[in-house]
Amino acid sequence: MAILVTGGAGYIGSHTCVELLQAGYEVVVLDNLCNASEKSLDRVRQITGKDLKFYKGDILDREILNQLFAENKIDSCIHFAGLKAVGESVQKPWEYYHNNISGTLTLVDVMRQNQCKNIIFSSSATVYGNPAQIPITEECPKGTCTNPYGWTKSMLEQVLTDIQKADAEWNVILLRYFNPIGAHKSGLMGENPNGIPNNLMPYITQVAVGKLKELGVFGDDYDTPDGTGVRDYIHVVDLAVGHVKALKKIEENAGLCIYNLGTGHGYSVLDIVKNFEKANGVKIPYVIKPRRAGDIATCYSNADKAERELGWKAENGILEMCADSWRWQKNNPNGYED
Ligand code: NAD
Ligand code: UFG
Repeated sequence: MAILVTGGAGYIGSHTCVELLQAGYEVVVLDNLCNASEKSLDRVRQITGKDLKFYKGDILDREILNQLFAENKIDSCIHFAGLKAVGESVQKPWEYYHNNISGTLTLVDVMRQNQCKNIIFSSSATVYGNPAQIPITEECPKGTCTNPYGWTKSMLEQVLTDIQKADAEWNVILLRYFNPIGAHKSGLMGENPNGIPNNLMPYITQVAVGKLKELGVFGDDYDTPDGTGVRDYIHVVDLAVGHVKALKKIEENAGLCIYNLGTGHGYSVLDIVKNFEKANGVKIPYVIKPRRAGDIATCYSNADKAERELGWKAENGILEMCADSWRWQKNNPNGYED
């Protein structure tokens, strides 16, 4: 059985390719490498001792999609490909709507023309907006997103839901990720952001490795135990395993399913700094800065539904996440470019 992994050279995609190959699936990756290096796929091969097929191409390109479906027997698609920088999406909304929405519509159209009607979609806790309840269950209503990136996730959830409603042959699994951090235990694969990182953990690891001077903590006056923002950080390998479990659900013809993938624990920015220092014995200097526009105080999941229905539960704790993020950064100070 071959699985099409769009965006498979990226951070979460590459870790998922490892878990898929280890679970015995054939893997076909489509990625235009706009935010990834093909070297990540060599690392996937190195870790697993198995091969995968790679097509360098765009989900907006029908020709390459048709070629890929003609050359492979694809059963299901795990769809990671998309642009994901929140701030950039505010500056370039057209590019985000075009890439993420037109790209997904094109992909899904070619899929159905090829009788492939199984998709797992990378959604996000961002669809809850400022959540109506904490911890957040899947029943919590979707909210108002604060940026075009978030809206692409919210809108694509609706698009895929409507497609499944209209044609019961589709199996659609919407996975709402909380905050993925960490890296493969081998130290061979991890997050590889371009330029100055926007997200907390890659910023911390770049401070630790000496590329950045200090962490800016965005706000210490939130209504949280220490005043800094609280999030549900989840190890990227746990997240990757969640996709393999979701494929089993597709094999049961489950129709439409929505799952939170988180740990159910909330950690503040200062908790992360402290745990990083404890796990790695490295000091992280920080300064308090004003709040970042669009941030919310607290966001963490109730992930019981995924445990109940997928038999999935995050295994790694915060110290392991911090240790694994650091091992990757320390061994690869310039990401895949070393
Ligand atoms: P990433 O940027 O590392 O991976 C996305 C991959 O998609 C990249 O390899 C990129 O080159 C590729 N891509 C982008 N547009 C493409 C296109 N038009 N055609 C082909 N390939 C294309 O990001 P990631 O962190 O691995 O995220 C994977 C998915 O999970 C994304 O959809 C993202 O929005 C979603 N997500 C990520 C997070 C997070 O915090 N990392 C949280 C929630 C949801
Ligand atoms: N933070 C800092 N300093 C930094 C970076 C972040 O203090 O340099 C703080 C933020 O204010 C927030 C927390 O660290 O309180 C986490 O911020 P991230 O940018 O790492 O993550 P977000 O929760 O803002 O958003 C991430 C992804 C979104 C996704 C969301 C939920 O960037 O795409 O998780 O899955 F939608």
